Amino acid sequence: MRRPGPAAVMAKTINRARIRGVGEVGQLFVGRARELWFSQETLVFLVRPSDGERASAPGLKLREATASDGPRYAADIGTDSPRTFRARLSRTSRCFVVVSDGMFVHATWLTAEGAWTRELRATLRPPAGDAYVYESFTRPEMRGRGVYPFALNEIAGWASDHVLRKVWVAVEGDNASSLRAVSKAGFRPAGEVRYRRSQGRFAIETSELEGSGFTIETSPWVL
Ligand SMILES: CC(C)(COP(=O)(O)OP(=O)(O)OC[C@H]1O[C@@H](n2cnc3c(N)ncnc32)[C@H](O)[C@@H]1OP(=O)(O)O)[C@@H](O)C(=O)NCCC(=O)NCCS
Repeated sequence: MRRPGPAAVMAKTINRARIRGVGEVGQLFVGRARELWFSQETLVFLVRPSDGERASAPGLKLREATASDGPRYAADIGTDSPRTFRARLSRTSRCFVVVSDGMFVHATWLTAEGAWTRELRATLRPPAGDAYVYESFTRPEMRGRGVYPFALNEIAGWASDHVLRKVWVAVEGDNASSLRAVSKAGFRPAGEVRYRRSQGRFAIETSELEGSGFTIETSPWVL
């Protein structure tokens, strides 16, 4: 699993500032600078079966993104340039977008193999035969309208069609909006991982994932 390089991180930052606004991105930077010095946080893992009800949502359509969606993704979601978006797409790293009036109003990534996760500075691998969704983003003006639960329900249906049994998600313990959205989509807590950063040193303090089949491949240094 390839870790994003400095150029990819810079491209993401510039695009994010344009979509989210300088205020939100500024807060993100301050938070991350503090994080590097000292932080103690929790990542909550939640899971749901892939089969289940699929509810339609007027005006919203979920589809899998393709390489030709790079410019639209960069313009509407802003977490990648067209080039880095194309480079990230693969058979094992898929992106789903919710389209409304021709605009991408939400994006979520999915893997059945493993994905780099910034919070844990690690590659997270779901159990064999399951899917893991990550890096979900709803455009600020569309938040609070059920777009993320709609996307998750549709993605779970896609996973079921592709013989993937369960769908996992990991949410920061203080991300109330995300926790609320995933619980509305039928996800239930499966365990928490508590971790700490101190002067560049990263450590997992406790993990309740043993026995779940979910694995975390960490690197001891975060700088
Ligand atoms: C988390 C996120 C994807 C949720 O998407 P969403 O499409 O707004 O999901 P929902 O519509 O179900 O809203 C979830 C909750 O957010 C809260 N919310 C409502 N309006 C909101 C707004 N304008 N802004 C932020 N949060 C809002 C509400 O508590 C809402 O639940 P409720 O309406 O049932 O009370 C979105 O807030 C986001 O992109 N945040 C930034 C990136 C992020 O945190 N990603 C998740 C990583 S796991």
